[in-house]
Amino acid sequence: MIAKWPVYVFVLLCVCYVSYSCLIWCLPGNMALDDGAGDLVAQGRMVYQKYSCKSCHQLYGLGGHLGPDLTNVYEEHDTAGAYIRAMVQVGSRQMPRFELSAGEQRALVAFFKHADATGVADPREFTTSAWGSIAPKNE
Ligand code: HEC
Repeated sequence: MIAKWPVYVFVLLCVCYVSYSCLIWCLPGNMALDDGAGDLVAQGRMVYQKYSCKSCHQLYGLGGHLGPDLTNVYEEHDTAGAYIRAMVQVGSRQMPRFELSAGEQRALVAFFKHADATGVADPREFTTSAWGSIAPKNE
């Protein structure tokens, strides 16, 4: 007689995997931020990709390392996006200047505002829960 326990273990592992996946996706941290600015934020994300900002900058700790992490740049420097616009238009010794349209600038600022509201820059500051999800230390 062929032992059936490997089948049971396989089914159990599949059930655990599906349950865990559902749990992770249902946690509040994975909910989309519905602030009514979704389209502009999506356009800003495209601007960020189009000009390869990520080749030098990180978002949520991921990306190139020539420039600083930009996850919380919106909150750190201003609330109206003037600093971000100025930085992009003028550049610096190490950062090239970009000629963005007014619409692209507005979308980029909305994107950084969204990133600031949804994440914290330095992953070393994160704590990991027993469920495997991560959260900033102060939450
Ligand atoms: C070639 C690499 C490079 C690219 C590409 C680049 N940056 Fe930068 N960026 C830098 C560097 C380096 C700095 C730090 C400059 C300094 O302090 O003088 C910086 C600084 C900044 C700052 C100020 C950050 C702070 O905390 O003060 C902002 C905002 C910024 N970049 C936005 C952007 C955006 C938006 C893009 C894409 C459109 C972009 N950068 C593309 C290299 C780059």
